[in-house]
Amino acid sequence: MAHRVGVIGGDGIGPEVIAEGLKVVAAAGVAIEIVDYDLGGYRYLRDGVVLPDEVVEEWRGLDALFLGAVGTPEVPPGVIERGLLLKMRFDLDLYVNLRPFLFPPSDVDFMVVRENTEGTYAGEGGFLRKGTADEVATQGSVNTRMGVERAIRFAFDLARSRRGHLTLVHKTNVLTFSGDLWERTFKEVAADYTDVETAYNHVDAACIYFVDSPERYDVIVTDNLFGDILTDLGGAISGGIGLASSANLNPARTGPSMFEPVHGSAPDIAGKGLANPTAAILSGAMMLDFLGEDAAAERIRAACADPAAQLDGTVATGDAIAERVHG
Ligand code: IPM
Ligand code: MN
Repeated sequence: MAHRVGVIGGDGIGPEVIAEGLKVVAAAGVAIEIVDYDLGGYRYLRDGVVLPDEVVEEWRGLDALFLGAVGTPEVPPGVIERGLLLKMRFDLDLYVNLRPFLFPPSDVDFMVVRENTEGTYAGEGGFLRKGTADEVATQGSVNTRMGVERAIRFAFDLARSRRGHLTLVHKTNVLTFSGDLWERTFKEVAADYTDVETAYNHVDAACIYFVDSPERYDVIVTDNLFGDILTDLGGAISGGIGLASSANLNPARTGPSMFEPVHGSAPDIAGKGLANPTAAILSGAMMLDFLGEDAAAERIRAACADPAAQLDGTVATGDAIAERVHG
């Protein structure tokens, strides 16, 4: 039976790279029934719609969501990011943002488990006396024991299935409330995973290690905002953001998970056929993993790893990867 996938091409280069991702999924022989959604900055500019609750309800009946990129400079910051992307993550309880990084030709590779529903992203805060000289703005970080623990448990399970090493990244020396909760939870959960070796890095030090000695990492678990920043760095040091894929997972499978490249809508190169579709294609492979299509996902990853398939141009690269997946 075909997997039912909601597709949100979105803005800028989003639709271009998603088309290649779907092309490669088809080349891998996986049957997908596409349900198309016209959402993003351009849709908002047209009729003011961001993400209606009825659409989220409809999504609950799907097997997965595949998203290109959303956001455009004509729309004020936050409208689409909070109203669409974060609403998806929160409403569908996509509490793990999983981002893998490879360092070919070396065999270094690691995965970041970014907590995806809390922290500074939760939207806690507000203004006092806005627009006056006495203005106050606060933006709190929300950390629940439940939210922290489920992300950490996911990361321990993942580490166990890989090389058995998990690093907590935080800033416990300064964030002595949230950092303390993360550290205590990490240590308590570690007692259930005595076969997994653990480490701790402050986030600033982790930035140095990412560049200097990425081989020290297997799985990293971290807070939402630290994970956001670290995974852009991860992309930059491992072949570029054009290769960085991600999965927004609801591991409990109470609804569909969402798969998207780490990069944004890149309005500067939109419509020029210049975007690298590999990040979207690899996100498609992560989607197939989650749908139980492991062999197809593995074939896609192998095709993406072939340097000869990295060509100039979105469609040329998509075609080259699709051809290799066909065999
Ligand atoms: C990402 C993006 C988003 C985030 C933005 C667009 C809201 O940067 O997926 O990394 O900050 O999570
Ligand atoms: Mn980001």
